[in-house]
Amino acid sequence: MTTLRNAAVFLKECGGRFETTGSLFPSSRFLGRAITRPLLTRPASPIRVLECGPGTGAFTELIVPHLRPGDVLDLVELNPSFVATLKERIRSDRRWRTAVPHTAIHSLPLQEFFPAERYDFIVSGLPHINFPASILAEIVECYHRLLKPGGRLSYFEYMYIRPMRRVATLGLDGPRIDQVDRLMNGLLAQYKASREEILLNFPPAWVRHLSRNASGGLADAVPPTRSAQGTVTYQPAGH
Ligand SMILES: C[S@@+](CC[C@H](N)C(=O)[O-])C[C@H]1O[C@@H](n2cnc3c(N)ncnc32)[C@H](O)[C@@H]1O
Repeated sequence: MTTLRNAAVFLKECGGRFETTGSLFPSSRFLGRAITRPLLTRPASPIRVLECGPGTGAFTELIVPHLRPGDVLDLVELNPSFVATLKERIRSDRRWRTAVPHTAIHSLPLQEFFPAERYDFIVSGLPHINFPASILAEIVECYHRLLKPGGRLSYFEYMYIRPMRRVATLGLDGPRIDQVDRLMNGLLAQYKASREEILLNFPPAWVRHLSRNASGGLADAVPPTRSAQGTVTYQPAGH
């Protein structure tokens, strides 16, 4: 029931705000499990987790079970309808109640979020491909600013969306997609990166896990795993 209601909220918001919503439906559980996988490696000490663009909470519900007393979870969401859904879920969904002491919902764009401390884990559902280059540059800057040395950043992108978007717009969107390529490749180049293929999502997606070692340079990537949803592949940064 919750799943259907969330899908309906998503579809409605997508109609009016495609640039920021970026998809017709919430992400699948398979994509959610992959993007939250770095939390399996969490230390015993308290952690700070940031979720960017939680929407109706498809990733949040898989972050919550990893949380322990003393942890912090900040959700940053710009769409007030999604913020209302998240607040309702935290209030009424039994499985989310354990998250209440840890969680703060921030109703604003990520670019305007300036917390006092950085994060050990960042999970981003932002639709990077949709943004004007100037906004995407600000978002990439936020990731650098908000990730602790030693921290992990995970995000996703629909498979082959960039070439498909070029074709679908008859090349008119080409210059913007070139800038998206440059910005996202620039981000990848600064971290150790790994990639997972998630076929059981609509549309299928790649999840990227980026990690930064304690001195701010390259670190070990998330260890390889293989699961039911498809193959796991790794690529050097920048691809
Ligand atoms: C593709 S949806 C992902 C939602 C959810 N994480 C999922 O996977 O089902 C993108 C989400 O990012 C939010 N969003 C877009 N731009 C944002 C920004 N600048 N700051 C915060 N949230 C943003 C949208 O409102 C939407 O909830």
